[in-house]
Amino acid sequence: MAAAISPAAAATTLRLLRPFSSAAASPSLFSLLHRPKLTAPLYLFSSPAISRQHRSFCSVVSSGESTISEPLEVENVAKIREFHKRLKIVDIKGGPDEGLNRLGETIVVRGWVRTLRAQSSVTFIEVNDGSCISNMQCVMSFDAQGYDQVENNVISTGASVWIQGTLVGSQGSKQKVELKVDKLVTVGKSDPSFPIQKKRVSREFLRTKAHLRPRTNTFGAVSRVRNALAYATHKFFQENGFVWLSSPIITASDCEGAGEQFCVTTLVPNSTEALVKDIPTTKEGLIDWSQDFFGKPAFLTVSGQLNAETYATALTDVYTFGPTFRAENSNTSRHLAEFWMIEPELAFADLEDDMACATAYLQYVVQYILENCKEDMDFFNTWIEKGIINRLSDVAQKNFVQLTYTEAVELLLKAKKKFEFPVTWGCDLQSEHERYITEEAFGGCPVILRDYPKEIKAFYMRQNDDGKTVAAMDMLVPRVGELIGGSQREERLEYLEQRLDELKLNKESYWWYLDLRRYGSVPHAGFGLGFERLVQFATGIDNIRDAIPFPRAPGSAEF
Ligand code: 4AD
Ligand code: MG
Repeated sequence: MAAAISPAAAATTLRLLRPFSSAAASPSLFSLLHRPKLTAPLYLFSSPAISRQHRSFCSVVSSGESTISEPLEVENVAKIREFHKRLKIVDIKGGPDEGLNRLGETIVVRGWVRTLRAQSSVTFIEVNDGSCISNMQCVMSFDAQGYDQVENNVISTGASVWIQGTLVGSQGSKQKVELKVDKLVTVGKSDPSFPIQKKRVSREFLRTKAHLRPRTNTFGAVSRVRNALAYATHKFFQENGFVWLSSPIITASDCEGAGEQFCVTTLVPNSTEALVKDIPTTKEGLIDWSQDFFGKPAFLTVSGQLNAETYATALTDVYTFGPTFRAENSNTSRHLAEFWMIEPELAFADLEDDMACATAYLQYVVQYILENCKEDMDFFNTWIEKGIINRLSDVAQKNFVQLTYTEAVELLLKAKKKFEFPVTWGCDLQSEHERYITEEAFGGCPVILRDYPKEIKAFYMRQNDDGKTVAAMDMLVPRVGELIGGSQREERLEYLEQRLDELKLNKESYWWYLDLRRYGSVPHAGFGLGFERLVQFATGIDNIRDAIPFPRAPGSAEF
């Protein structure tokens, strides 16, 4: 039943928060706020129903006990204005006629100045609002309102602006339409030290300016494609009947058993003056974890798989999509200490089902961005990786190659290439081997390797009948190498217990995981896909640190 409150309780618990202080806006902007709709730049979600004097939020706190049936009547409570989608540059220029359908309309553009070129009769201001790569070219003559801001150098690259004008056909070849400016307001000035001026800057340099790099074409495009990949991910799994699951970020189990976890503890005080002697220890001199927050050692998760298995063995098909953390000291272009992973888990499924799901998923998300991110993909095709559109079209349409690990080793042994790391059966394949297989041996086609030696894979993978290999699979793609790692899980209790013993893992700490094999165990399988590696694969960006807004890597956690 919905909670309700009595009028008396409401009188004491309904709180009208103070209206916004008018000091928040500069005088020029403040005066704009009181003009009719189109001339009100700060009314982001405008509606005449609310005036500035009545702009307040109301919060109703329920006492939880009393009930009433009639609606609450409170006088003089301002309504929250209606939400209206704001017009963005993509709405104006993104359609098939690139804005020609809106010629003559009065339009407001809000965004950040990319460039400003003052010529004798007119000034060209390129404005970008991040909705697409295209800027709005705003053409301003000296009689437009606000021209003094151009004359007095108030407005420069990096400044935020509100510009109203009429959409007209453009004389330039770069765009079909441009905005003939009636009025310009500088919302926020930009200091001349703004580091991203027009000249091209390296991605290494931009990594040191991660707070400003989304204002470049490359990082704007990567952000939009990353967003589209996330949306397509949920769309794929939702359309196929999977339930999204939030797996825990703090965990006491090491899913991959590789000991690459970050410890989460309150035993180490976070003050710089803390002394080592303040860390509680046992009589034997060991850290006394019983005094820690969770009463035992806890870590940031390296994978949500074990938790996903619990829900798959109840809801059948589930997936996680969340952050994971690995303290591996790998300073490579494919490793992050914090990355996002997508982990589907399918019940009543074997390795074949798992590989089919991984293939369908990858083809779906790739097709999605080819269809829905055309402008950004064209940009990558021209500036980041020539031919990426053809490469991805092939991925979306062609069959993937499937090989066993043993066949892959034979192929590598026959290769005419000299590898830094020698190959023998039983070795863990290195990035150079994986890339050779997908890039050279199979000409850029994604390759799924299966049936790996059990010694190099995690404890939970299902043992094959040969006793030497497990039902594991890795999907390898060009440029990235391993994009996906997955397996059929060991659903037989006695096999799993035996494997934990062989690996000297503490069976007691896996009690709940083993329970899944005690109560209605089923064959099940799943995989993990590193989301940033997918972004790399789909955009052609070389370094994984440019595929996530704020990269975390050894020695680097700025921003
Ligand atoms: O192969 P991994 O370690 O598999 C697992 O974690 C399984 N529990 C997944 C499962 O079956 N549910 O990791 C899965 C993927 C890799 O293929 C790779 O794409 C990505 O996660 N990955 C990383 N991405 C960025 N930085 C790192 N340090 C990564 N480590 C793994
Ligand atoms: Mg792996």
